[in-house]
Amino acid sequence: MSADLMSIARDVATKAHSPYSKFQVGAALRTVAGSIFSGCNVENASYGLTICAERSAICHAVAEEGPAMKIATLAVVCLGHEFPPCGACRQFIVEFATPLTTVCFLQHGKPVSMQVSELLPSAFK
Ligand code: THU
Repeated sequence: MSADLMSIARDVATKAHSPYSKFQVGAALRTVAGSIFSGCNVENASYGLTICAERSAICHAVAEEGPAMKIATLAVVCLGHEFPPCGACRQFIVEFATPLTTVCFLQHGKPVSMQVSELLPSAFK
């Protein structure tokens, strides 16, 4: 259920290292193989080295399942803010997506689910 993933994403957001933006972001994904992985944003004094929550979760999943890992559903939550994954994360998601992969995020307090092709049309592959 994507509601479970949203809840895991909200929990892991509290672990964010975000002293610069103060945005606490969490992501949780279920792989096609059925496991769940999560990640939070980790900022850096150099700013540009910041890792987003979505990419952190995907790296966790690849480290466990290997390069054939595919995302079934990925959810992202930012405490106190609402946004879909940034452009860099959309491209990162595409690398591990199937035609059925969905991405879930909050809009006006409600979870919205989108297919990856909708989130990043004409993706570079
Ligand atoms: N951030 C994410 O973790 N995911 C996104 O999709 C967009 C932005 C983080 C990066 C940075 O730590 C903070 O939110 C503000 O941009």
